[in-house]
Amino acid sequence: MFTAFEKAKVVVTGGANGIGKTIALGFAKRGSDVAIVDIHGDEAEAAAAELRALGSDAFAITADVSVLEQCGMVFDTVMKKFGRVDVLVNDAGVSALSDVEHIPEKDIRWVYETNVYSHWFMMQKFLPQMRAQKTHCQIINVCSIAGLISMNGAPAYFSSKHAAVALSECVYKQMRAENADIDVSVFCPGYVKTEMHLTDRHRPERFAIRDDEPYYHTEEYAKFVAFNKYLLDNGNDVETAVDSIFKALEKDQFYILDTPKYERLLCEQGVFEAEKVRPVDYYTLN
Ligand SMILES: NC(=O)c1ccc[n+]([C@@H]2O[C@H](COP(=O)([O-])OP(=O)(O)OC[C@H]3O[C@@H](n4cnc5c(N)ncnc54)[C@H](O)[C@@H]3O)[C@@H](O)[C@H]2O)c1
Repeated sequence: MFTAFEKAKVVVTGGANGIGKTIALGFAKRGSDVAIVDIHGDEAEAAAAELRALGSDAFAITADVSVLEQCGMVFDTVMKKFGRVDVLVNDAGVSALSDVEHIPEKDIRWVYETNVYSHWFMMQKFLPQMRAQKTHCQIINVCSIAGLISMNGAPAYFSSKHAAVALSECVYKQMRAENADIDVSVFCPGYVKTEMHLTDRHRPERFAIRDDEPYYHTEEYAKFVAFNKYLLDNGNDVETAVDSIFKALEKDQFYILDTPKYERLLCEQGVFEAEKVRPVDYYTLN
């Protein structure tokens, strides 16, 4: 539960675009000051300028949050500017399509380092400060419905999001066990209308696509991207999806979903998992 928005100090990774930017705007509209952290410094600065126009004391930090040292730099910069932190939103995330055999090793690493390690590293850096502050704090880890169910296709994405949900569950339980005044929530939306099909443009240099790598320059790869765009275009509006976070913050709610669409699938999969028979087929349920 978090409702003390006025002048709250909020950090949003991946805050330059899509869901992260919409979350950052949501906090700014409620009177919070926001640090926009993103791998694209110019886009982070543009988003921060939009937030400042709403009265937020917003600023941009350029960082690749899949790297521990850069998360440390983010922490130091936030402390220098804000002196404390009330809310940490780990939103930065990427996707790689392709099946288990054909996906290049670097894409598995890119997806895991961005979707899982960044949550881990940012919480490592920010949790000690939140605990020491002895004020009520909130962590929101943006995962996905892909962290609760699985489908054929994109195993790197689905498995990374499952890992990210499990990590959040562990931290939630640890905070409860410690009696720490730190709430943890996971946001698990279905498809949301963003430009996430352009995910390749967020690759750090070490995972960049090179001209001499034929895998990325095939018609099949372009079809993956087009299919991803189709799914996103048919998803929830980003404002509606993000609104479910702010509604959930008024309650003590760990799992935050943006649509009831997957409820049957979640139940079915839960039953099959409990009985340990076989995973359910998403396509037969729709
Ligand atoms: N759009 C959807 O349908 C959907 C559904 C479920 C979950 N999600 C999750 O929501 C989050 C945001 O997705 P989106 O749709 O807004 O995507 P997006 O591609 O529009 O935005 C992602 C943002 O993260 C930033 N980013 C990527 N890697 C980074 C890194 N290493 N360091 C710092 N910043 C980095 C990008 O620059 C970009 O601004 C992701 O974690 C994604 O997995 C999206």
